[in-house]
Amino acid sequence: MEKLLLLGQTLAFTADPFANGPDAAPEAARYDSRGGVLVEGGRIIAVAGAEALRAEHPDAQIADHGQGLILPGFVDAHMHYPQTGIVASWGKRLIDWLNGYTFPEEMRFDNPAYASDVAATTLDLALANGTTTLTSYCTIHPASVDAFFAAAAARGMRVAGGRTCMDRETAPDGLRDTAQSAYDESKALIARWHGRGRATYAITPRFSPTSTEAQLEALGALWAEHPDCLMQTHLAEQTDEIEWVMGMYPGAEDYLATYEAHGLIGERAIFGHAIHLTERETARLVETGAGIAHCPTSNTFIGSGLFDLPGLRAAGARIGLATDTGGGSSFSMLRTMAAAYEIAQLRGTALHPAQLLWLATEGSARLLHQPGIGRLVEGAEADLVVLDLASTPAISQRARRAEDIWEAVFPTIMMGDDRAVSATYVAGQKVKG
Ligand code: GUN
Ligand code: ZN
Repeated sequence: MEKLLLLGQTLAFTADPFANGPDAAPEAARYDSRGGVLVEGGRIIAVAGAEALRAEHPDAQIADHGQGLILPGFVDAHMHYPQTGIVASWGKRLIDWLNGYTFPEEMRFDNPAYASDVAATTLDLALANGTTTLTSYCTIHPASVDAFFAAAAARGMRVAGGRTCMDRETAPDGLRDTAQSAYDESKALIARWHGRGRATYAITPRFSPTSTEAQLEALGALWAEHPDCLMQTHLAEQTDEIEWVMGMYPGAEDYLATYEAHGLIGERAIFGHAIHLTERETARLVETGAGIAHCPTSNTFIGSGLFDLPGLRAAGARIGLATDTGGGSSFSMLRTMAAAYEIAQLRGTALHPAQLLWLATEGSARLLHQPGIGRLVEGAEADLVVLDLASTPAISQRARRAEDIWEAVFPTIMMGDDRAVSATYVAGQKVKG
């Protein structure tokens, strides 16, 4: 089998950079100013110094990325591929944004050709931005799920996704199912896609306001039958939404309780947003090991609020990073890290670049229960991104003054976009650059 040796700067996490606070964050990473990543059969087989690897593997084909920074590919823990066409739609908050922009667009996915087209566009945008894994909501149409997984398989990408379920009258005609059809169609899609190639199925009730209790119950039962699937939904994104939920579920103690009542909580749950949590909700998320997908560009764009990343991490919550496109305003995980930094600043904490990079890679991969991605380590799948840390004049003039790798990478985190992604590899195959 052919070996490929990537050369450049390398940065690999050896521990969780949140464990001991921002000042100790750099100690969680191993940096090599001239490193190498050796790939064979789609996997990383060694990470070490460039010269040592060259000497040991003279037969390997060389991909010399010069000063490029080699990292694991970015992992987006929550997004909506069907909303690619309505990204950056002006002027509305969550409920009006869903009714005015999102639902009309999602109706178009009753056309499988349209779904295939948008899936291809979205995955190509992701790869151009160095994102090698996406966790996506699809629409109510099973063909939208087929389109997503087929497009990912064609690109060799590890992805997660599922059919979005909505059976309450709050969802419009044409985007409504029933408890039974949500169960049946999700079950058939699990049989078709879960574990096929690099696909993971995520059981996907959109959120409590668009599902009846009967549907939440049916999807809780389905998850109990398929506990190795993920379960994704939305939680406590806007205060108006929470009031709406409490009006619809008068017996529930809080928003999270509407999911818990039907078994929709656990280690493989990924709750999007989770901004306005009660103490009880935070405690339950931590106790159950549920994941939270932080979606910072969405939270500012739709005006949702300031996610308490520092507080939730201190409480022991599991958190990953996500674009939430098209509620989020960018396909770039660099821009998403920048927004996470800005929101944490407004909360009084400066996240270290190591913490931001970890959230966008290993942090999100942990939410997906995929230890084979998000890490630059022997045995991991060779999904990689190479960053140019001088991709624009503005970034370059700042990075030139850097005294260490963190100062060198931070301008790219704050100001970079797809121009900073000089190469993307999926399972060892170059797909950009
Ligand atoms: N809550 C329920 N559905 C959605 C969605 O599509 N986007 C966002 N941001 N929040 C939601
Ligand atoms: Zn979302």
